[in-house]
Amino acid sequence: MLYNRTFTMIKPDAVEKGYAGAILSKINASGFRIVSMKMIQMSQRDAELFYAVHKERPFFNDLVSFMSRGPIVVAILEKENAVDDFRTLIGATNPEEAAEGTLRKQFATSVGENAVHGSDSNENAQIEAAFHFSSREMF
Ligand code: CMP
Repeated sequence: MLYNRTFTMIKPDAVEKGYAGAILSKINASGFRIVSMKMIQMSQRDAELFYAVHKERPFFNDLVSFMSRGPIVVAILEKENAVDDFRTLIGATNPEEAAEGTLRKQFATSVGENAVHGSDSNENAQIEAAFHFSSREMF
């Protein structure tokens, strides 16, 4: 059976620019149901833990300071084939390579400040969702 949930973050760049509502609207229009959602600001420590898999990458420090610099919207989304379909909706990591009609094409600024996160596997979707939400926050 296909796993039917993914985890997303509307990142500080997109929230700062007032894009959160437009992004959520496109997510809903693309057939995803919101299972959980809240606005938070990650501490530097939160961001280091969330992105621990990237800690050896040259962009790790920039990523941590970017992701903790302002509020973000975190959400769990449900749809058949959620992980892959959401990756298609958001587009390539680098907005210059993102297809027309994708969220990153429309809302992202650069490879670092790329507006939206989407889990890259079912396993990571579960880990990332559990990082931000308890089972009592899943509806
Ligand atoms: P995301 O896929 O949500 O999670 C990992 C993040 O690392 C990615 O989004 C980008 O924000 C960031 N990232 C990936 N590659 C680079 C890069 N080459 N330079 C800066 N940031 C990057």
